[in-house]
Amino acid sequence: MIGERADLMEKVTALCKRRGFVFQSSEIYGGINAIYDYGHYGVALRRNIRSLWWRHMIELREDVVGLESSVIMNPEVWAASGHLSGFTDPMVDCLGECKQRWRADHLSGDRCPNCGGPLSEPRQFNLMFKTHIGPVEGSGADVYLRPETAQGMFVDFKNVLNSMRVRVPFGIAQQGRSFRNEISPGNFIFRLREFEQMEMEFFVKPGEDERWHRYWIEARHRWYLEVLGLRPDRLRLRPHDKDELSHYSKATTDVEYLFPFGWGELEGIANRTDYDLRQHQERSGEDLTYLDPETNERYLPYVIEPAAGVDRIMITCLLDAYDEDEVRGETRVVLRFHRDLAPVQVAVMPLSKKEELIAPAREVQALLRPHFRVEYDQTGGHIGRRYRRQDEIGTPYCVTVDFDTVSDGAVTIRERDTMTQERVPIATLLTSLRERFI
Ligand code: GLY
Repeated sequence: MIGERADLMEKVTALCKRRGFVFQSSEIYGGINAIYDYGHYGVALRRNIRSLWWRHMIELREDVVGLESSVIMNPEVWAASGHLSGFTDPMVDCLGECKQRWRADHLSGDRCPNCGGPLSEPRQFNLMFKTHIGPVEGSGADVYLRPETAQGMFVDFKNVLNSMRVRVPFGIAQQGRSFRNEISPGNFIFRLREFEQMEMEFFVKPGEDERWHRYWIEARHRWYLEVLGLRPDRLRLRPHDKDELSHYSKATTDVEYLFPFGWGELEGIANRTDYDLRQHQERSGEDLTYLDPETNERYLPYVIEPAAGVDRIMITCLLDAYDEDEVRGETRVVLRFHRDLAPVQVAVMPLSKKEELIAPAREVQALLRPHFRVEYDQTGGHIGRRYRRQDEIGTPYCVTVDFDTVSDGAVTIRERDTMTQERVPIATLLTSLRERFI
């Protein structure tokens, strides 16, 4: 299967640039490794991913509240959380010709995979980006770009508890940028140095943590299947071995996707126990315990954390949706996005640039725009070419205004996946399209 899809990553990468989903950051200066920009359709796709997550993790529940914490925090946070000492990967240097650096745990032999030279002994490399705050440089002013959004939820735990009238079990969720100075980033936007997380810390009573862990593993797996519509045969759950657990985790299960380069993590669901709250309580001296109003018991809650990445979900959705078929002897490239994910839901196009078609096409656009993400396309060119462009950005429906529209008041709805066409009166167009989006 992987063999058959060997060139899929290259095809999707090329499509992303050609159609304005993803650009290399600072490309005119040669780019910068593992950092990317997102163009118009990429932004739209990411907004849809974020809002589907927010809808299901917060809006459709009563036990999770939102937060946006800062990227730069008091450096004590990272001392307490264990990231200063423990957020490291083992690194080796090539001592031969190329001098390249490698992640030791990604190598199978003891020679440099690039030039065959000998390798240094592994040493631990901290993945946090360091900068300084204020007008002076020096160790007293050192601060870090957050490597995970999670710590914001832990250090604001008391503020949320005192302001939101929440009761355990409850969650705090946020979406935002994180930064990791990865030794070996790669696979396009799969492993980035600047990336976006969607994390939720779910606080539970100790002893109930394993049951909630199972609950969130199942709920998150279902989200990928039912909300994003990913192919079930390319998704699996994989519990971590003991030796790969993060320093804060008692147990972690990943939702994995079968990428062209093999199975890779989409989301980790970790049982962080009371590790973080306990560390922050000890270092800050603040009481972070929770008083159960029913039993009068006081305890440090345990935490279950589903942690996903927007960029990884984005590349997964693109790979999962990518398809090619043959239309009249030519290859058609199509992104078969789930209708809720598609950057454009309906494209409206007059058959030609003639004035008599433009006015009704603009009316159709105005009719649909309040209800769908609509794109209007009168760029000219053969209608088939314009359909292909919409297929490549994954637009589920095109609505075409032609010369008969002027006399019969009807338009054609063209469906992306089947390419079937149906003639519909403008008077019932909105209803017809709404039915297709249920
Ligand atoms: N907070 C978990 C992670 O960043 O992977």
